[in-house]
Amino acid sequence: MIDAISFENGTLGYLDQRFLPLKEEYIKTKDHQEAIEAIKTLAVRGAPLIGVAAGYTVVLGINSFTGSKEEFPAFFERLIADVEASRPTAVNLFFATARMKEIYESGFENSSLEELFAAMRDAARKIHDDEIENCERMARHGVELIRRDLGETLKTRKLNVLTHCNTGTLATGGSGTALGVIKQAWKEGVIEKVITAESRPLLQGLRLTAWELEQENIPFFSISDSSSAFLMQKGMIDFGIVGADRIAANGDTANKIGTCAHAISAHHHGIPFYIAAPVSTIDITIDDGTQIPIEERDADELRTIFGTQVATPTTPVINYAFDVTPGEFIRGIVTDKKAVVGNYREELPGLFA
Ligand code: MRU
Repeated sequence: MIDAISFENGTLGYLDQRFLPLKEEYIKTKDHQEAIEAIKTLAVRGAPLIGVAAGYTVVLGINSFTGSKEEFPAFFERLIADVEASRPTAVNLFFATARMKEIYESGFENSSLEELFAAMRDAARKIHDDEIENCERMARHGVELIRRDLGETLKTRKLNVLTHCNTGTLATGGSGTALGVIKQAWKEGVIEKVITAESRPLLQGLRLTAWELEQENIPFFSISDSSSAFLMQKGMIDFGIVGADRIAANGDTANKIGTCAHAISAHHHGIPFYIAAPVSTIDITIDDGTQIPIEERDADELRTIFGTQVATPTTPVINYAFDVTPGEFIRGIVTDKKAVVGNYREELPGLFA
């Protein structure tokens, strides 16, 4: 099993995903600024794992505090603000910091730093454990829905599935969201081949999803992001399933840039396209996708490929990290509670009951 993240003896450990699959480097740190940098640079990435890392980062911050009791509230506020400024789109990060704030505000203002540290560490561990369990539940609900939707085809053959970015163990700490569903479907004999879209510019599909599938001996091949419509036209894709960084109340879904093009193509070809995400990725306070903050990253991520300059340094670039797929192109949203098929505005609030 891949060890994406750990927290032992006040030390955060994580697999540095920037260099995978060519280099497997496991970093250990007690420094919360280093942990924030790891989230910013995508050494640690994927919405649920960002949430887990954010929780542990707050714990590291508290452990490093050496000031007086009077200085602590300002320090805590700054710490939370720094963690929240690391990446804006994945709502799981804000879910984790909100949990930490809740603990601090529910009476821990008057207790010792050691007690606060222990309570926060336990809460961060709980977020981590919950994400692992969520993956198992999503996998079950997802396979059920796929069997229901594609039962006729399954009577004659296994299915080919398209996925984008990386939504597996590296992105969650558990089996994965979309990739967890795919892994379970493969175990149950539902999948013929997985098709991983490369996911430009940082190639999470080509580098990370391919690496995870290879480790699990699941048959797959990779494609450039722009190939998916042609493969659908040729009948080479039976369904698509991806993860999410934030889902609005109407089902509009932010996910790795390129997702929306796959979903529109799937809709055009009558191919079901699903989202798999824990309830912690749904932001019910946001009415629709236009209100989801979309991260814009450094232009050099596009102008260079892993350090090699491929465009002039002055080439103007727009580098959105995510796009928003309208809910109308999404056949179903698979969560840890249940799979919701359409009617998102009516159905999603019920998941928070
Ligand atoms: O920029 P990244 O690599 O953090 O983006 C990750 C994605 O877009 C994933 O699809 C999403 O976070 C779901 S991960 C289970």
